[in-house]
Amino acid sequence: MIVPVPAAAPDPSPAAGVGLPVLPPGFRFGTSTAAYQVEGAVDQDGRGPSIWDTFSHTAGRINDGSTGDVACDHYHRFPEDVALMKDLGVGGYRLSLSWSRIQPTGAGPVNQQGLDFYDRLLDELLAAGVQPMVTLFHWDLPQALEDDGGWLNRSTIDRFAEYAAIAAARLGDRVEHWVPVNEPNVVTMMGYGIGMHAPGRAMFFDALPAAHHLLLAHGRATIALRDSVPAGVTASVGCANNHAPMWPASDDAADIGATKLFDAVWNGLFLEPMLLGRYPVDLAPLLEDVVVDGDLATIRQPLDFYGVNYYNPWRIAAAGEGADLPFEFRELLGYPTTDIGWPVVPDALREWLIMFRARYRNALPPIYITENGAAYGTGPDADGVVDDRARIDYLDGHLRAVATAVQRGVDVRGYYCWSLLDNFEWTEGYSQRFGLVHVDYETQVRTPKSSYRWFADVIAAQTRSLG
Ligand code: GAL
Repeated sequence: MIVPVPAAAPDPSPAAGVGLPVLPPGFRFGTSTAAYQVEGAVDQDGRGPSIWDTFSHTAGRINDGSTGDVACDHYHRFPEDVALMKDLGVGGYRLSLSWSRIQPTGAGPVNQQGLDFYDRLLDELLAAGVQPMVTLFHWDLPQALEDDGGWLNRSTIDRFAEYAAIAAARLGDRVEHWVPVNEPNVVTMMGYGIGMHAPGRAMFFDALPAAHHLLLAHGRATIALRDSVPAGVTASVGCANNHAPMWPASDDAADIGATKLFDAVWNGLFLEPMLLGRYPVDLAPLLEDVVVDGDLATIRQPLDFYGVNYYNPWRIAAAGEGADLPFEFRELLGYPTTDIGWPVVPDALREWLIMFRARYRNALPPIYITENGAAYGTGPDADGVVDDRARIDYLDGHLRAVATAVQRGVDVRGYYCWSLLDNFEWTEGYSQRFGLVHVDYETQVRTPKSSYRWFADVIAAQTRSLG
């Protein structure tokens, strides 16, 4: 179900620093989280282990030595977190389901207690006027499936489609939007390509079968969701793909070539099969052995929306002789950086959105920004105030970039800020804070930051402008 955007052009968003960003009527504001990053309660109510439990409990994998065992304890504190969303005024919340809570080994019988948790969470959200956008897989593959080869094993796709059908049948009457797979490019590259994420394999280009299987999982789950939601319900299914404009480090032909190749790997490898039913020409030969007849048609399901997760552009150079990969990453000079070291370049989001529409036009469904946000470590001052001005600047700049793209005709329907809460930031553990709400991990006390108040003002101004 997608809220139609009236044809009238929105008022132009004021210049940075002047007033609040203005988005069109009906524009959906939301926040995002993911199960392993916030839930905790990893041993509770029949949940099975996932690859992120294994990975975070492996010495040396997480920078601060932490795990998601407790995280934000959202499993127990979700009513408080939903109340925070209600006060914020967001109309949407993007969450993910923990597959191993629902099927502890990723196959076979359903753990009803796991589904019951999501049942309660969705009811709480709807009672607060917040529409759920549900991701099925935000990286926490059941460990038992990884033991059978994980995303390198084609049979994981069948398991995923079964799980999608289970989720749709039980929860589908209350889910506004579904996202089968979060960021298949990050899973492939970080999990299987270079091994910085779970399951920690460093296979370089041999990781490409994982990409193909994740894409098939997206296609099969899309079909399963649509087939399995309760009678009378139409499932709205999209994606949440991480995109980044790729900028060459120099005008040297080798750097430009490396940038083009990495652009195909990061952006095109997932986008083109989903929207066009084909692999980028430079990569197709590398996938010939894993693609079976009919696969690309399965991957290319009509989508109700296209979710873009955007953080920053990347600067790419050709790698030196003998490197494992043909490209390397260079610092993007001349921009401020967040505490995790990522450059702040709001205009690159505008650039990406306008290029995306220009290039894919009719193949492109309405767009949602399914993640965007920044890591800043600002904590409470002596008065308990968390004054994270830098996050406000980041969000302000990026919302204005979205507003500009909308004025230029890009059909963006919503923006989900990453993240509602400070949470377990994968290999960074708890050292990087992306939340609009500060979490004290000792006490689990939640403190809304200045950025939360600012975001609430943006949303309230939007509502007021509708009269
Ligand atoms: C995304 C990911 C989120 C979150 C965010 C900030 O790639 O989907 O789970 O960690 O990055 O790093």
